[in-house]
Amino acid sequence: MAGSWHIGVIGGSGLYDPGTLDDAQEIPVASAFGEPSGPVITGWLAGVRFTFIARHGPGHRLSPSHVNYRANIDVLKRCGVTDVLAISAVGSLAEDIAPGSFVAVDQFIDRTAGTRARSFFGDGVVAHVPMADPVCPRLSALAADAAQGAGATVHRGGTYLVIEGPQFSTRAESRLYRQWGAKVIGMTAMPEARLAREAELPYALLAMVTDYDCWREAGESVDMSAILKVMQANAGLARQTLAALAQSLPPDRAASPIDAALDHAMATPRSHWD
Ligand code: ADE
Repeated sequence: MAGSWHIGVIGGSGLYDPGTLDDAQEIPVASAFGEPSGPVITGWLAGVRFTFIARHGPGHRLSPSHVNYRANIDVLKRCGVTDVLAISAVGSLAEDIAPGSFVAVDQFIDRTAGTRARSFFGDGVVAHVPMADPVCPRLSALAADAAQGAGATVHRGGTYLVIEGPQFSTRAESRLYRQWGAKVIGMTAMPEARLAREAELPYALLAMVTDYDCWREAGESVDMSAILKVMQANAGLARQTLAALAQSLPPDRAASPIDAALDHAMATPRSHWD
């Protein structure tokens, strides 16, 4: 069934500006999974509803290990979001993916420590959603087109390796991840992508490349102040990408198979839920 788009955006603290959305409002949304990272801001861009959450909270106070990924996805779902676009800073694991470019990621390798709450299920109700293709190809292509239209260099496809952090990788780890075929490295995409799938929300991730990770022979180690400079320089491009996305969305949103990801995923019979 066709309907309207409502894009949830999970991004860095610099992404949202008071002028970004028309009729922006902060809305109180409670989650049974605890506190989301920060205020939920909803409004309009080119007639399309957008709802924002800053992943690391106001003032970037939450480390990747302490973000409440479940609450963030849950509040977006409760707001009626139809699709989630994540925007994340990453390091590059490939020479041709230069800092300043964007990658429309299509796969993930999860090397987080296993301590982040990564499912809405398990407390008496069991579901196993497929994660073979963790990114929605439709939203990812629309976001990549929009970023390109806004003037960004965009790489389409590429595996994002998720580390626990908060420290950056050792050179040996960084070189190992390259051998695994990963193209970019970051600390936040998991469990965000898993939870979006469980919430039946198509998810795409535009990775903003801020540095070459430390794998290069002549390369320096990763430096947070250099990363912040690239993020600040790219925040405007990310905002223009969202504006271009709003303008390019087809007027009607055709249903996605991900909207019904739980239809064949439930292990616990409905008669046992309460
Ligand atoms: N975020 C930005 N750059 C990164 C890197 N090199 N490793 C992990 N996370 C990052």
